Amino acid sequence: MFMPSINSSALFARKNIMPVINADKPGNNLRHPASKGARIFCDSAVRADIEPLLKAGLIHGITTNPTLLKKSGAKSWDEAKGIMKDLCALLNPFPVSLELTELTEEKMVAQASELGALGTNAVIKVPAGGYPAVVPGGDPFTGFKVIRRLWEKGIKTNVTLIFNTTQAFWAANAGATYISPFLGRVPDYINKNDDPAKAAGNSLYSIGEKGVVAGDRVANSEYVAAGGAIKDSGARLIFEIATVFANYQITTEILAASIRNPVQLTECLLAGADILTVPANVLQTVADHPLSDEGMKGFLADSKAFST
Ligand code: G3P
Repeated sequence: MFMPSINSSALFARKNIMPVINADKPGNNLRHPASKGARIFCDSAVRADIEPLLKAGLIHGITTNPTLLKKSGAKSWDEAKGIMKDLCALLNPFPVSLELTELTEEKMVAQASELGALGTNAVIKVPAGGYPAVVPGGDPFTGFKVIRRLWEKGIKTNVTLIFNTTQAFWAANAGATYISPFLGRVPDYINKNDDPAKAAGNSLYSIGEKGVVAGDRVANSEYVAAGGAIKDSGARLIFEIATVFANYQITTEILAASIRNPVQLTECLLAGADILTVPANVLQTVADHPLSDEGMKGFLADSKAFST
């Protein structure tokens, strides 16, 4: 498990300028003990999964994307918009991230208004990069330009598909409200692509088969997170972004995404994420532990002594 050796005082100082998550209740002199705790969102577009978690007070927002909307049954843009609108109403006033599907600046800005009309709590999800990969001759800075345009209009953004700290830093500079590093996809990629005969993490240096090899100058697209064990790269990515944001007192919230299991969830908390967006199947297990089951059975058995 990723274990940062020390959290800097800058990380703690940044927490002081971040929003209160669990407000105190007027008239209750018991202060909330986790007023600056990390917020938990659900990474889903399925109402049936989200509603019980919301009612249990476990989540304070959700994140969606085209893949999750497809999984929830949307077969057309109108159906997708219907689902997004319903989710905004369900979650209100908590934030709901809705992802742009247009790929060019003007169309994306126009689509942001269309999605913004679905709910006052809508947050516009903007891919950080990848535009030249899907649009021939596409502008690599499309995402950053759109983020700045939306910031100028007072529209909140969640910058998605973040895989390194440079993307996160520039997204924040453009005015992002949230950035979403996909930490789970980093070990996924390494596990699938590393060549066991080479140094650990070697696949990071050949993403996209550009012929870049370890030891050569590493382009931004190959770089994930510096230092430490390669197996920790996902959590290190969060820690690295948290440290840079703390160094410069950047208040863009770090929304750790693509979390696969409770271990990664804990690693995000250790690394200093502000928000964790967690799949419903992982959230459904957060109260469970086999030793809790065993302990409860013991307490129940012993409590029977009181009823006679
Ligand atoms: O919020 C981003 C998330 O949905 C991506 O997760 O599981 O597709 O890597 P995944």
